[in-house]
Amino acid sequence: MHECFLKDGGKILVVKANNKVTRFHSIWLRDNSRDETTLSPQNQQKLITLNDIPKSLKISSLNLDGNEIELVFQPENKKVSFDVHWLLENNYDYKLVNIKKGWVNDKIVLWDSDMSSTLPSINFDKFIQSDFDLWKWLDKFLKYGFGKIIDGPEKQDTLFEIVKRFGYVRETNYGRKFEVRSIKNPSNLAYTSKGLEAHTDNPYRDPVPSLQILYSIENSATGGESVVVDGFNAALKLKDENLEMFNVLSTYNVSFQFSGEEDLFLKADKPMLELAPNGELKTIRFNNRSTIIKNNIPFDTMELFYDAYRNFGEIMSDKSMQFCFSLQPGECFIVDNTRVLHARNEYMNDGNRWLQGCYSDKDGLLSKYEVLNLKYQNKC
Ligand code: FE2
Repeated sequence: MHECFLKDGGKILVVKANNKVTRFHSIWLRDNSRDETTLSPQNQQKLITLNDIPKSLKISSLNLDGNEIELVFQPENKKVSFDVHWLLENNYDYKLVNIKKGWVNDKIVLWDSDMSSTLPSINFDKFIQSDFDLWKWLDKFLKYGFGKIIDGPEKQDTLFEIVKRFGYVRETNYGRKFEVRSIKNPSNLAYTSKGLEAHTDNPYRDPVPSLQILYSIENSATGGESVVVDGFNAALKLKDENLEMFNVLSTYNVSFQFSGEEDLFLKADKPMLELAPNGELKTIRFNNRSTIIKNNIPFDTMELFYDAYRNFGEIMSDKSMQFCFSLQPGECFIVDNTRVLHARNEYMNDGNRWLQGCYSDKDGLLSKYEVLNLKYQNKC
């Protein structure tokens, strides 16, 4: 059961349900009206600006009929109905004690080396053909920031078929795709190609490509396992161990740069740990090859900054934080490049290796997930 009444001369609507009082401002209610002259029924885009709502706005009357509350706004004399459950779902009547720095959304799952049993993995044909299976995989991908697609064809450009399922390829100066290829070298089979330290890609772009896709076509060389690290988990570990170090990496910008090609100078001044204004950890940028530390950090903080940079790297280099796997031909993995770092172990030149990579962005993937959510979430 619920009851409703007006307060402060119609400036506030109060909803009482289950012994709990929830307040709503008249301006919030008018702005969130869902009638067809306020919100487009076709695309849910707003059809009014704030200037169309009079400053003297108040609610002159309310009528509760079951779960529907009809309000009349003055001076427009406009009637708008709200569903009580919709209002309660969108309750904003709470207090924020203080804004904490460095927290992650409670929908995500932090992980370490021991994630093989929960690894988001899907068969290629299911990924391509089944919306339901894609939805389940996307749900897991968004929790872990990482996922595999297996049993695909050992065929070049298959990665484009994958991206097409949820979004668009992000073309860069490297083209629509990049090749990571080395062939067997019979004259020096003992030669080892060096591993790559855990990193995020392209921190010198703003915005960074938020998804990276790597697809294996050939892999007969010894070694060369792929490694992924949950950067959010590592950042929160750093915060637990030394708050000052977390704060310094999330406060000061460094300069990420790439200028290895003619007519190209990419540069982004950003912190290694980027927080939203509400303190939520949003983006990790970590790539020793493109990090320039010059005068963004003052003298008195520089030593602490280097200690924090080193410690953060050491946390991520710890084997207990790294999930290591071999990417077989026809297998692919996708990382959320704003959260998950990737690395590669060293490998012998005793076989061929051929991977194709490309970038994409999370907006398309999130859109696909929301669309599939509407289709499936109440049907399971
Ligand atoms: Fe990379």
